[in-house]
Order: sequence, then structure tokens, then C-alpha cells
Amino acid sequence: MSESYKSILWNRQKRIYDAVLWSFIALYFILFITFNYNFFPAITVETVIIRATGTLALLLLHIILSIGPLARIDKRFLILLYNRRHLGVSMFLIALVHGIFSLLQFHSLGNVNPFISLFTSNTHYGSFINFPFQVLGFLALLILMLMAATSHDFWLKNLSPRIWKSLHMMVYVAYALLLMHVMLGVMQLEQNFNFLLLLLFGMCWLTGLHFFAGYAEIRKDAQTPSHSDGDYLFACHINEIPESRARIISANGERIAVFKYDGKLSAISNVCKHQMGPLGEGRIVDGCITCPWHGYQYQPQDGCSPPPFKEKVATYDVKLVDGNVYVNPQAHPEGTYVEPVIIT
Ligand code: HEM
Ligand code: FES
Repeated sequence: MSESYKSILWNRQKRIYDAVLWSFIALYFILFITFNYNFFPAITVETVIIRATGTLALLLLHIILSIGPLARIDKRFLILLYNRRHLGVSMFLIALVHGIFSLLQFHSLGNVNPFISLFTSNTHYGSFINFPFQVLGFLALLILMLMAATSHDFWLKNLSPRIWKSLHMMVYVAYALLLMHVMLGVMQLEQNFNFLLLLLFGMCWLTGLHFFAGYAEIRKDAQTPSHSDGDYLFACHINEIPESRARIISANGERIAVFKYDGKLSAISNVCKHQMGPLGEGRIVDGCITCPWHGYQYQPQDGCSPPPFKEKVATYDVKLVDGNVYVNPQAHPEGTYVEPVIIT
């Protein structure tokens, strides 16, 4: 879309996020390695690296896939959503180390090219239990690589939103491939049933969480405002909206975000023009409503992106009566200026 949208604008948060993330990664490696050398003293360095990086990448993938639904259920998880990209790229790098060490350990010692060996050392493609599980890991890694590469702002700007979104939805394909990769790998090499149980738990957790978040959204949309004032629907008490943040209400199947900022109130559509991100879950940065997903910005009073950008969303009339905020659900055409309500 634009030349200079910054995807994530609150940099201090980003630094804290990275510090916590990499401390967690370091702690995981230390604990994993200590545990393995204590209980399996004969284990080789390569095997420890393969197992530590494989299990950690899979754990991080579970965390990444949990963040979206968790943020829908409870706003306190939004902070994780804002910086999910860093988590994704870190997960890919760790998975890449796992893939490279696996290729070195299992496929580089013979006289066949490691990539050819990966596809030909086990040819039980017609069998379920003996299926070449490493090929599934390789395909998943290719998808993760594509996602990590295109997570950069350059691709966000130059791939159409639809293509970018479809590409990133492929994370679910990668997850399915990885479930099979790990399940078959554990069954063929280790027969460690505790690990299989853990995998099953992870799968049930993610499926349950996604269903629950979907259900919570449907319930929220079905909620009707408790009362109205003429054409205006009650949104909330003014004190319920934190400074530079919004309250989202649903009316006639549309979501509207009412923002409080600099002693004023304005309402715009909750749906970002980029990939339908929830604008009401973002906040006002440099005077503009900033989408929490990839940082597109809109002016609160007219729903227009600041020049030179061209995106526009619908705006709504707001009024304040005895500290109660009301919104008229009749949308103005996208980009229509609406005088902000002054909070008295
Ligand atoms: C080129 C791609 C890949 C190759 C060649 C590969 C190869 C392997 C091999 C050989 C094992 C068995 C290791 C052992 O038990 O000694 C394994 C296990 C595993 N892999 Fe991969 N893998 C690849 C990609 C991935 C990716 C992308 C992930 C996760 C994001 C992953 C997660 C795991 C996990 C969790 C295990 C089980 C760890 C364990 O054995 O305790 N793999 N992989
Ligand atoms: S910026 Fe991507 S959805 Fe809003």
C-alpha cells in the first residue's frame, strides 16, 4: 500500500518482548541440555541440538497459534499479538537449525546429495506408519521460510493483502505437516508415547482455543446495546474507555470503535482496510488510530489514512450525555469528516 508505514511503532515494548523471548529460548536450551546429559549421558551433541531445536520450534509454534484466539478472548494478550512477527521469525530460525543439523547428521555422510538422500533414503511413500517423516518436516520448513521471508515490510507493501493473508494462513498447513512429521518420527525412531500424548494435548489445546474464541466473537456480535437515545445506541460510560484507546460495540452486524483521545471522542469502523484487523484493539499513536496487526493508520475524525496514503473507513456520529457515550450506527460514507465530541 504505502511507502513508509511502520509495522510496529512502539519500540520500547518490542525490545522488552525480544529480551523476554530470547531469555526464554536460552533457558529452554540450558534446561533441555542439562536434562538430557543427566539422564542420557551417551547422547551425541548433534542429537541434543536436533531435539532441543525441534521441540522448541514446535513449542513456539503452539504459542504463536495460541496468541490470536487468546487476544480475542482477553485483551491482556494483545501485547503478544503486536509483536507476533518476531516470535514467528525466531521460531523459523530455530526450526532451520533443526533441519540443517538433521540433514547433516542423517543425510550428509554418504555419497548422495543430502537433499536427494532426504527424499530417497526412505521410499515407503505408500505406507502410513513408515512414511518418510523427514520429508514432511522439510515441506513445513519451506512454508515457514516463505512466511518468515514475506513477513518483512517490503512484502507487506508489495504483495496484495489477499495474497499475503493466504500465504500466512498456510501456517495451519505447516502445523498439520509438523504434527505428522513429529508423530511418525517419534513412532518410527523412539516410540516415546509420552511425547505423543503431549502432541495430542497441544492439538486439542489449539483446536479448543480456536473454537472458544470463535464462539466468544459470535456472542459478542449478538449482544445488543442495553438501551438507546433516539437513533443513538448506548456504548459505555466515558470512564470505561482508557485514554488513546477504544470501546468496540456491535450494531446491525457491524463493529464500531469509539476512541477517546486528547479530551475528544470519535467513532470509526472497527475493520482495517488492509486485512480486516480490529482497529478498536489498536491505539492512537502520533494522533492516528493505529491498527494492531500491521500498523496502518487512520485519522479519528474522518477515518482517512494520513497523506500520502489513500485508505478510508466509515465514520459514525457520537454523543455524550451525562457521562454516557452513545453512537449512531448509521455509517457515514468512508472518509467523511465528523466533528469530534469534546469531553466536558
Ligand atoms: C528439513 C526439515 C526437517 C528435517 C530433515 C527434520 C528431521 C528430523 C529428524 C531426523 C527427527 C528425529 C530426530 C531424533 O529423534 O533423533 C526429527 C524430529 C523432530 N522434528 Fe524435525 N525435521 C525437519 C523440520 C522440522 C521442523 C520445521 C520442526 C518444527 C517447527 C520440526 C520439529 C521436530 C520435532 C519436535 C521432533 C521430535 C524431537 C525428538 O525427537 O525428540 N522438524 N526431525
Ligand atoms: S494493518 Fe494489517 S490488518 Fe490492519
